[in-house]
Amino acid sequence: MSKFVKINKKLTGFNKKLLIDGDKSLSIRWALLSSQSIKKSKASNLLLSEDVISTLNCLKKLGVKIKISKKFCMIRGLGLNGFKYKENLILNAGNSGTLGRLILGLLVHSKKKIKLKGDISLSKRDFIRVIKPLKKFGAKFNSNYGKLPIKIQGTNFTKPIKYFENKGSAQCKSAVMFAALNTFGETIIKAKKSRDHTELLFKYLKLPIKITKREKYDIIKITGKHNIPALNYKIPSDISSAAFFIVLTALTKNSSLKIKNVNINPSRMGVFYILKLMGIKISIFNIKNYKGEKIADLMIKSTNEIKPINCPIKFNSSAIDEFLLIFLVAAKAKGISYFKSLSELNQKESPRLKWGSKILNKIGIKNIVTKNSIKIFGNPNIKINKRIIIKDFLKDHRVFMTSVIAALSFGGKWQIFDKDSINTSFPSFLKKVGYLGAKID
Ligand code: S3P
Repeated sequence: MSKFVKINKKLTGFNKKLLIDGDKSLSIRWALLSSQSIKKSKASNLLLSEDVISTLNCLKKLGVKIKISKKFCMIRGLGLNGFKYKENLILNAGNSGTLGRLILGLLVHSKKKIKLKGDISLSKRDFIRVIKPLKKFGAKFNSNYGKLPIKIQGTNFTKPIKYFENKGSAQCKSAVMFAALNTFGETIIKAKKSRDHTELLFKYLKLPIKITKREKYDIIKITGKHNIPALNYKIPSDISSAAFFIVLTALTKNSSLKIKNVNINPSRMGVFYILKLMGIKISIFNIKNYKGEKIADLMIKSTNEIKPINCPIKFNSSAIDEFLLIFLVAAKAKGISYFKSLSELNQKESPRLKWGSKILNKIGIKNIVTKNSIKIFGNPNIKINKRIIIKDFLKDHRVFMTSVIAALSFGGKWQIFDKDSINTSFPSFLKKVGYLGAKID
């Protein structure tokens, strides 16, 4: 099977309804948290992407019983500090930063040594950000400048910590929250705003968590060693995956799309607010509460006139996974857009700020990129006739999918490599694009 896709034709207008795959952040958190209960937990609509399968495989290696059927995934956990494994176990987090970082939080209590490794992309990413706070609990770490592979040896005598999370990283915050679960005493986290799925799950399970919300930070207090109840959950659709189709609809003439059952957690909705400010026609309806999370249907329509934006940095964390797509929208805006304080984007599966700029260069959109910002000189009449090749992007799933959306929205003759990268987060992506009428070879 070929490793690339070829796209030679813009998408024409469509009016459709879509259901998007389950949320990746929630799927991984559900599995990790369920492993800490001694009860049986069940999830439906779990995202069965490579990141989540890596999570299930790591848990299986730690002795957790997992059954997957067509409709459900069932986990019978081993309770706090219950992992059963042999000394020098090797765990593979694959491509997943969320798994790699969060699971370390659960391992600070595991006395037998474990080696955590990952793929080429994950092995380039920074783990000092989690090693530093997790060391304070009492676990020992061994690594080469905080890069995978990492050796961890936990302890039975973890101490609660005070931790200031100042990057706006939900992965760092959640790793510490997981470590606090199994530590006697009160762990106090002062965390810059970031996605709050872990907090909402803790609250739903009635674990001892207190949250004080300030303008830019949250103070989170967790008292450890509380039994974890079963976590039965229906995973809603992922707004980060939906975003590809939101942008595709907005940029395709005479189109409309309804997307059902999307998780609209406010800490993930930056993309919605940014696109609204840019004039994109998108609305939310049928809002429901589900176990602490918010779920709704979305309606998107093609948008002829796109406004440029000086993007408020308050949206950076809640849109962190959608900026590549937002840059495409800015490419078609009538004027100059500016995005700043985005150094974290270069810490993702690939250096995404750089890749955002590369894709814009390839489609002939002038941009000025620095270490943490990008200025995009939009062109409402953007048309591409040339050949464009996208490759060597560390198999970053979001670079691949953004390139597909650019090809279908702006035209040109594209060859985009590493199509298997979609399996990281959104295995049905190409099928769904095909359902909207795209011709992809
Ligand atoms: C995630 C948090 C974000 C995000 C990632 C998923 C999570 O990373 O980019 O795709 O599930 O906690 P950071 O916490 O490093 O910002």
